[in-house]
Amino acid sequence: MGPGLSNEGDTVNPLRDPQDRRLPRIPEPCAMVIFGVTGDLAQKKLIPAVYDLANRGLLPPGFVVLGFARRDWGDGDFESLAYQAARKGARTPWRDEVWSRLAGNIKFVGGSFDDDEAFDSLAETLDELRSTHGIAGNAAFYFSIPPAAFPVVLKQLARTGMADNAKSGGWRRVVVEKPFGSDLPSAKSLNDLVDDVFTREDVFRIDHYLGKETVQNIMALRFANNLFEPLWNSKYVDSVQITMAEDVGIGSRAGFYDAAGAARDVLQNHLLQLLALVAMEEPTSFDAAEIRAEKLKVLRAITVPKDVSTGTVRGQYLPGWVAGQRAVGYLEEKDIPPDSTTESYVAVRLGIQNRRWAEVPFYIRAGKRLPRRVTEVAIIFKRAPHLPFNATDMEMLGNNQLVVRVQPDEGVVLKFGAKVPGTTMEVRDIAMDFQYGEAFTESSPEAYERLVLDVLIGDRTLFPDAAEVEQSWQVIDPLEAAWRGTRPEPYRAGEWGPRAADEMLEREGRAWRRA
Ligand code: BG6
Repeated sequence: MGPGLSNEGDTVNPLRDPQDRRLPRIPEPCAMVIFGVTGDLAQKKLIPAVYDLANRGLLPPGFVVLGFARRDWGDGDFESLAYQAARKGARTPWRDEVWSRLAGNIKFVGGSFDDDEAFDSLAETLDELRSTHGIAGNAAFYFSIPPAAFPVVLKQLARTGMADNAKSGGWRRVVVEKPFGSDLPSAKSLNDLVDDVFTREDVFRIDHYLGKETVQNIMALRFANNLFEPLWNSKYVDSVQITMAEDVGIGSRAGFYDAAGAARDVLQNHLLQLLALVAMEEPTSFDAAEIRAEKLKVLRAITVPKDVSTGTVRGQYLPGWVAGQRAVGYLEEKDIPPDSTTESYVAVRLGIQNRRWAEVPFYIRAGKRLPRRVTEVAIIFKRAPHLPFNATDMEMLGNNQLVVRVQPDEGVVLKFGAKVPGTTMEVRDIAMDFQYGEAFTESSPEAYERLVLDVLIGDRTLFPDAAEVEQSWQVIDPLEAAWRGTRPEPYRAGEWGPRAADEMLEREGRAWRRA
């Protein structure tokens, strides 16, 4: 039996809050098989997440990370790569004893995806690990690979019987990363492909935004309190703004990004999921099926602008300066064709056709090379119906706002008017600020840590299902069709997107929040 990962023998786990009397959720013994271990995602997110889980004592005693890649490696080579990745990316403090226990549970099988022998050997290894490492036949297959490679890997898993729950004597799950297709037809065929090999309940689609604490807090804020929900409708809400701004450019992902663009990259998934959580009705419980059903209803009720030329804006960055650094333009980025018409910025005005949200615009924007990194959801309330103040006393009074700051400075800000000290009745906007870092002593797990744990436990609450993914494409596809053949508006790197995005709101008497 390989070295166990339980915290037996650890009298005190420094990362567990001694006040926390809830029992930690710990998965059954299992293996996590990662396809594409040498890729960015595995190195930056998955392996550090596994170390952090081990460090928090949340992995089961029988647990193995099994890497698969086209490399002529032994277990030791993969282990040293994993060590570098964990050292670099871990969020929890480094503890050598945690790593040495984990290191004995890191295995590698080399081969290419079309190599039958390599997959036979992967199946044998999984079998052996039952007796050597006590994984009890349970395995999660993590596809950290380009979607083009999905069919061949799925075929291999089916051929070798590795995807078969009954044959394995335990559970077999598959984890699929976005992008889930590039439009509705491709998403459908991807879903069909996965469904042919795995049962529906065993498919976990990752949208890492749902793993963020602040995103989950949208549900807590809305449904644990009585304060906000009565106001959460078109009677009191003027508009909703969802912003996902990034200061970075496209990095080394030119091939993927240029084929996708901002709408397919983040609007179809992260931002529509945020919208769904903000706009959905209260689920009857926090059961995965109940939450998904409510989200799906909202996604179905979304309307896109009738006139895409006035209700949406696409942008592409020119050279400029971001945070004091010179930034090249999108068209000068490595491997981007000089005549590319892909958008690095998108803004869109969506509506939701139901009683709660009729007539309330949802303005959504996302972009790269904007002045800074910030993701937030702002609920902008209507002005009070009557204001018994002099106009001059209200010059500094805006609309009340509730802002969920997803990142950074995670928290919630409530903006409202208060009397300015002095002898007049002047009112001015002030902000009441809740910050996660100050209000809680507990540390937030990184999104991938939470999601990897949920996969191993089998908790599907934070994973969008096939219907949500397909419905989200129904929102994006008509936009993409209308944009075909158009050129994105230029904006300078380091500015808040194209001028046309400001005009889109100005035409409706509104302005983007200064995020
Ligand atoms: C990914 C997108 O899904 O999310 C990237 O493909 C983007 O383009 C990233 O940079 C942002 O994630 P986060 O967690 O840093 O907001």
